[in-house]
Amino acid sequence: MNTNARLALLTLPAALLSAWIGASAVTAANLPTTPKENANGASLTVSSTGGIDTANPFFKAMGNGRSCASCHSENAGWSLTPNDLQQRFTLTSGNDPVFKLVDGANSPRAAVASIDQKRLAYSMLLTKGVIRVGIGMPANAEFSLVRVEDPYGYASAAELSLFRRPLPSANLKFLSTVMWDARETIPNAAGPNCILGANPARCFASIDTDLLRQASDAVRGHAEAAQELSAAEQRAIVNFESGLTAAQVSSRSAGVLTESGGRGGPDALAATTFYWGINDFQNGDYRTRAAFNRNVMNLYGAWRNLATAPAPQPVPGRRPPPPAPASSTDQAKASIARGEALFNTRPINVTNTAGFQQGAQRATCSSCHNAPGAGSHSITRLIDIGVSDARFRTPDTPLYTLRNNATGQQLQTTDPGQAMQTGRWADIGKFKVPTLRNLSARPPYFHNGAQPDLASVVRFYDRRFQMGLNQQEITDLANFLAAL
Ligand code: HEC
Ligand code: HEC
Repeated sequence: MNTNARLALLTLPAALLSAWIGASAVTAANLPTTPKENANGASLTVSSTGGIDTANPFFKAMGNGRSCASCHSENAGWSLTPNDLQQRFTLTSGNDPVFKLVDGANSPRAAVASIDQKRLAYSMLLTKGVIRVGIGMPANAEFSLVRVEDPYGYASAAELSLFRRPLPSANLKFLSTVMWDARETIPNAAGPNCILGANPARCFASIDTDLLRQASDAVRGHAEAAQELSAAEQRAIVNFESGLTAAQVSSRSAGVLTESGGRGGPDALAATTFYWGINDFQNGDYRTRAAFNRNVMNLYGAWRNLATAPAPQPVPGRRPPPPAPASSTDQAKASIARGEALFNTRPINVTNTAGFQQGAQRATCSSCHNAPGAGSHSITRLIDIGVSDARFRTPDTPLYTLRNNATGQQLQTTDPGQAMQTGRWADIGKFKVPTLRNLSARPPYFHNGAQPDLASVVRFYDRRFQMGLNQQEITDLANFLAAL
C-alpha cells in the first residue's frame, strides 16, 4: 500500500465521524464513540448511558486480571478478532490477560514457558478468536460419549472442550436467547416470555434476568474470581452492556451508510423496536397477531435503483446519448440493496435442519434471522444448520463420538451445542440464531469461527442448502451483510 493510501485510511475515521454527525442529530441520549476501522469500512457504537464509561465494572479487572472487556472489546465489535488478538499478543509478549490457561489456551495443561510455546498453546484463540468453553457430559443424558479425538489431549466426559466465539456484548436488546447453547436462558414457568401453542407450556425469564446471572457466571468462570459480583456491580454491568448499539457506519466501496436514504448505522438500529415474539416464522407477531413478515431487512431499499445514473436531459433535435454508467459508489450501494432483497426473498429449501419447523421447508434467510432490522430470532428456538457436523471438522478441532443410549445410533460432532444443556439426543448440534448487526467488525463467523469472511458464510449456505446462487448473488449478499 502506498503512503497516500495509508494516509487516506488513517484519516478515515475523523472524516466519517463528522459525516455521521452531520447526517444525524446526535442526541445526548445516544452518544457515539469513535468509529473503528475494519476490512469493509468502519463500525460505530452509540451508548444510551452516555458514552463508554470505562469506570463501569465491565472494565474492572477481576480474579485472574481479566475484565469483561478482555473478551468483549469495542475494537473487535464487542467480541474478539484474530487481528486484535495477534496485536495484543505481540505487544504484551503473550501476557495480556486474555491469554490465560483456563479457557484461552487449547488445553489448560499446555506448556507456556517460552513465547513460542505460548503461541502454540493459544493457537485456537490467535487464529480463530475462539474461547475453550469446558462443559461436562450432562447427568441423565440420552447419549454417552464413546470416543474423544482431541488434538490437545485434554477433553473427556468430565469436560468437553468446545471452542466458541464470544458473542458480542452489544445490541443485546434484540436477544431472545442468551449464549450459543441457551445456557443462560432461564426456564421459568412464571416468566414473561412464553412460546405460543407449546404443550407443555414453555416460558422463560426476562432477558434482563438472564444477563444478570450471565455476568456473575462470567466472572466466576472466565475471570476465575473467588468472589461474587455484588448486586450493584451486576446491575451496573448489565445496564452498561444493554445500552450499547453497534453497527457498520461506512463502507469502503459504498461510502457512508446513511447517505441517499440508506438506513444503516447504529442510530437507526438504536431506534429499532424489538420484543420477544415480534416476528415469529411460525406464529407471526405475538403482540399484534400480524402474520409473519419475511421482509425483515429494510435498510437499503432506497438504493435499489442507483445502479444506473439518471438519464441525461434530452436535447431537442438530437438523438439521446446512451445512459452514463453509475458511479462506483452508487454501484456498490445498489449491490448492497440487491443483497438485502435476496436476504428477504431468495427461496431456500431447508432440509435436515433440526429445530426448524417440520413441513415448512420453503424458507428464506429471514425465516430464521427474523427479528426486524436485527436478524436475531424472535423467540427462544435453537436450530442445527450443521456447522458442528463431523464433515466440516478441521484438524485443529476436537471431535466427539456420541451414542444414543436407547437406539445405539452413533454420530460425530465437534460441538453438541444445546444437547450439552438438555441431555436430549434431538438437540445435538442446535445453536441459537445470532444477531446479524456489526458483522464486519468481528470476523470470523459461526459459533466456532469456521468461516473467515462473509462471502465464505454465504458460500456455506449455498452449498449446505443447494441454493444455486451465482457469483453476483454471492457478492451482493456478502456486501449486504458487510453493511449491517
Ligand atoms: C475469556 C473471555 C470472556 C470473558 C472474560 C467474558 N466473556 Fe462474555 N462471552 C465469552 C464467550 C466465549 C461467550 C459465548 C460462550 C457460549 O455461548 O458458549 C460469551 C457470551 C457473552 C454474552 C452472551 C451474548 C449473547 O448474545 O447471548 C454476554 C452478554 C457476555 N458474554 C457478557 C460478558 C460479561 C458481562 C463479562 C464480564 C462479567 C464477560 N462476558 C466476560 C467470552 C468471555
Ligand atoms: C434454518 C435457519 C437459518 C437460515 C435459513 C439461515 N440462517 Fe444464518 N444462522 C442460523 C444459525 C442457527 C446460525 C448459528 C450457527 C452456528 O454458529 O452454529 C446462523 C449464523 C449466521 C451467520 C453468522 C453470524 C455470526 O455472528 O457468526 C450469518 C452471517 C448468517 N447466519 C447469515 C445468513 C444468511 C445470509 C442466510 C441466507 C442465505 C441465513 N443466514 C439463513 C440459522 C439460519
